[in-house]
Amino acid sequence: MNKIIFIASFYLLAAYACQPSSTDPKEKEMHRYVDRLMRKMTLEEKIGQMTQLVVGFDITGPVLNEGVEEKIKSGAAGSVLGIYTPEATRKLQEMAVNDSRLKIPLLFGYDVIHGHRTIFPINLGLSASWDMTLIEQTAQAAADEAAADGLHWTFSPMVDIARDPRWGRVSEGAGEDPYLGSRIAEAMVRGYEQDDLSRNNTILSCIKHFALYGAAEAGRDYNTVDMSDVRMYNEYLPPYKAGAEAGAASFMTSFNEINGVPATGNRWLLTDLLRKEWEYKGFVVTDYASIPEMVNHGSGNEQEVTAMAINAGVDMDMVSEAISRYGTELVKSGKVAKKTIDMACRRVLEAKYKLGLFEDPFRYCVSEKEKHQRTFTLRYQLLAREAAIKSVVLLKNDNQVLPLNAEAKIAFIGPQAKRAHDLIGSWSAAGLRDEAISLWEAATKRYEKNNYLYALGCNLLEDTGLIDKLNRFGSKIQQSEKTPQALIQEAVAVARKSDIVVAAMGEAFSMSGEAASRSSIELPENQKELLKALKQTGKPIVLVLMNGRPLALSWEDENMDAILETWFAGTAGSQGIADVLFGGANPSGKLTMTYPRNIGQVPIYYNHKNTGRPIREEEKYTSKYLDTPNDPLYPFGYGLSYTSFQYSDLQLSADCLAPGQTLSVSVTLENTGKREGTETIQLYLHDKTASITRPVKELKGFQQARLASGESKTIRFDITEEDLKFYNSDLQWVAEPGEFDLFVGGNSRDLLQASFKYSAK
Ligand code: NOJ
Repeated sequence: MNKIIFIASFYLLAAYACQPSSTDPKEKEMHRYVDRLMRKMTLEEKIGQMTQLVVGFDITGPVLNEGVEEKIKSGAAGSVLGIYTPEATRKLQEMAVNDSRLKIPLLFGYDVIHGHRTIFPINLGLSASWDMTLIEQTAQAAADEAAADGLHWTFSPMVDIARDPRWGRVSEGAGEDPYLGSRIAEAMVRGYEQDDLSRNNTILSCIKHFALYGAAEAGRDYNTVDMSDVRMYNEYLPPYKAGAEAGAASFMTSFNEINGVPATGNRWLLTDLLRKEWEYKGFVVTDYASIPEMVNHGSGNEQEVTAMAINAGVDMDMVSEAISRYGTELVKSGKVAKKTIDMACRRVLEAKYKLGLFEDPFRYCVSEKEKHQRTFTLRYQLLAREAAIKSVVLLKNDNQVLPLNAEAKIAFIGPQAKRAHDLIGSWSAAGLRDEAISLWEAATKRYEKNNYLYALGCNLLEDTGLIDKLNRFGSKIQQSEKTPQALIQEAVAVARKSDIVVAAMGEAFSMSGEAASRSSIELPENQKELLKALKQTGKPIVLVLMNGRPLALSWEDENMDAILETWFAGTAGSQGIADVLFGGANPSGKLTMTYPRNIGQVPIYYNHKNTGRPIREEEKYTSKYLDTPNDPLYPFGYGLSYTSFQYSDLQLSADCLAPGQTLSVSVTLENTGKREGTETIQLYLHDKTASITRPVKELKGFQQARLASGESKTIRFDITEEDLKFYNSDLQWVAEPGEFDLFVGGNSRDLLQASFKYSAK
C-alpha cells in the first residue's frame, strides 16, 4: 500500500515539476487542459507532437509525400509544413482529428515572410521605411491572408543581424543594426500575433534563425560562426531577445555552428540563454533538417545528434523525423529524460491551445468566399503600394533630375524595365509572380502616353552557368536572340531620341535569399557595359535598381545622375516605384545596411569600434586601406528626398545625467526644400571610455516627421541611464560613469554633436 502511495506521489510530483506555475486564470485553465491531455498520451504520441512533416507542393496544388497520411492518423505528427489553402489543410486536419487516437489537431506552418498572397517589399526594403506602424500593418495583413488560407504559423520574423552583403539572406532581414532590428522584430511579432492568438486572423510568429545566422564567415550561407560573448550580447542577440520579450510564440534554430557547437544542438543557447536567462516560454523548432545536418558538422552520428538536439532544448523537429526515429529509444536508454520530452510536447500543445485549435480544429479552414474577401483586398493592395513607396531609397539625385517630367520623352531601358518576374523577391512562397506588373507597364498605364520609349539594352545576365543555376529555381531568365552589341546599339539609338533615360537594372530575385551568396556584389558586367554606352550619349540617366542586397556602386555613383534603390518592391512594387519616379510620392527610405565602395571593405558597418590608430591619410601606420577609403559609399541611415532637411540647434537639458534622471534632447528640423517630405531623425550615442571598448556610435532612437515646405519642428528625445547600458565583460548589463557623445541627424554620417557626462551618483 505504502509503495503504491509512494509511486503515485512520485508521478504526481513529476507531473507537477513539468507543469509551469501561473497565476493567470486563462493560463491555469490551459495548463489543466494540457495536463489532462498529456496524461492520456503515450511516449510515442508525445514524440509525435515534436515532429513536423513536410508536404510537397507542385504547381497544380498540394501533394502528399509518402507515408504522411499514415503518420498523421497514427498520431506521429504534430505539425505539417508546406501546405496551405483551406481545402488542403482541412483534409489533413480531418485525418488528425477523426482518425488519430487522441484527435490532437495539427499545426500548419509556412514561410509567410513579406506577405502571403499580397507581397510587400522584401524585408530589407521594408526595414528601409523605418516605419514601425507600416511594418506592423504588413505583418498583420500577411497574418490575415495566411490565416484565411488555412495557416496557423509563420516562420517570420527573421531577425538575424547582417553586416556582409555577400550573404544572400540579408534580403530577408532588417539589416545591420541591433536597435532598429529589435524594434522591427517587435513590430512584426505584434503584427502577426496582435497579442491575441485566439483571434482567427492572427498566427504564431517565429523568431529566426537562433542564433547569429547572419554572421556566417565570408558571407557564405550556412557557414561557421565564431564570436566573443560581448559581441554576441551587445551586437547580435538584441533582436532575438526583443522578439522573445514581445511574446513571439516560437523560435527557430539556425543552421550554423556557434563557437564549435551547432545551434540546433547547443544547450547553452537554447536552454541557458533562451529559457533560463530570457525566461522564454514558447516552443523551439529546428530549421529544415538541421538535426541530421549536425552529423556533417561533426557532432556525432544521427542518434547522438538527435539526443543532443532534444537535450539542448529543441521542441519540434522540422522535417528530418530524427526525433521520431530515435526518440523512444533515447528515452528508454536514459539518454533523454522523459520529462524533457514532456516539456517539449507541452509547449507544442500550449501553442495549439492558444490558437483555439482544441476548441475548433477547423477555425482557419474558412469558406472560399471568406478567403476571397480577405485576400488581395483593395486595402492590402494599397498597403503594398504604400510599403513600396516608403521602402524606396533615393541614393543620388544630381540637378534634381528626379522626379521625372511626365511630358518628357523618357527612354525606359534595361533588363528590369519590362520584367515583372523578380518584383516579389525571394521567400515569397505563396506569392503570385504574375500579380506584379513591370515598371514599363506601370509608367505607361499611369499617363497613357506614347512619348515613352523602350529598349532591352542587355540581358539580365550573360553568364550561362549562373543562368542555368538560377533557372532551376524558377528564375525564368531568358537570353535575347540579338547579340550583346546589337542590344546596346539599339538602346543607345533609343536613348539618343529621348530627353532622359530610366535604366532599370539589378539582380534576378534568386540572386539573393537562401543559398544565394555572391562573391561579387557589383551589377553584372554586361549591365555595366550598357550603362557605360548610355553614358556616352550625354543624356541624363536615372538608374533604378532592383536587387536583394547592398551592391557596390562606386562607378554608378560617379556616372549616373540619379540612383533609386527599389529592392524587390512586391505585388504593387512597380506602381509604387512609378509614384516616386514621377513625383506622386516623395521618397523617404533610409538604408539599414551600409553600402560599401567595393567588396574589399566587407564586412563594413557603421557601429564599428575604433582602433588604436584611427585613420590619418598623411600617416603611414594608421588603420586604412592603400587602395580605397575606409568610409562606405552610402552610410547606414542614408537616403535622400525630393526636398531637403536642415538640422540645427541641438540642445541638451543638462550636461550631466544620473540614475533615475532623464536628459532631454531637442533639435530643430527644417524642411528647406520646395515640397512636403518625411524625414527619419536618428539619435546615436558614443560611450567614450568604458571597461570594454565601445562602438564609435550606436543608434539609440529615431522618429519620423512629415514637414511641409518651409516648416520647422522641434524634435525631442529623452535619454535615460537605460540607453547607456551595455554588456560588460562579465555580461552584466551596466551603465558606466564617464563621458558620452550624442549625435542627431538624418544618417549615421552627417550629424550634429553634443556631449554629456553620466555619473552614478
Ligand atoms: C529553411 C530556412 O532557413 C528557413 O528560414 C525556413 O523558414 C525553413 N527552411 C522552412 O521553409
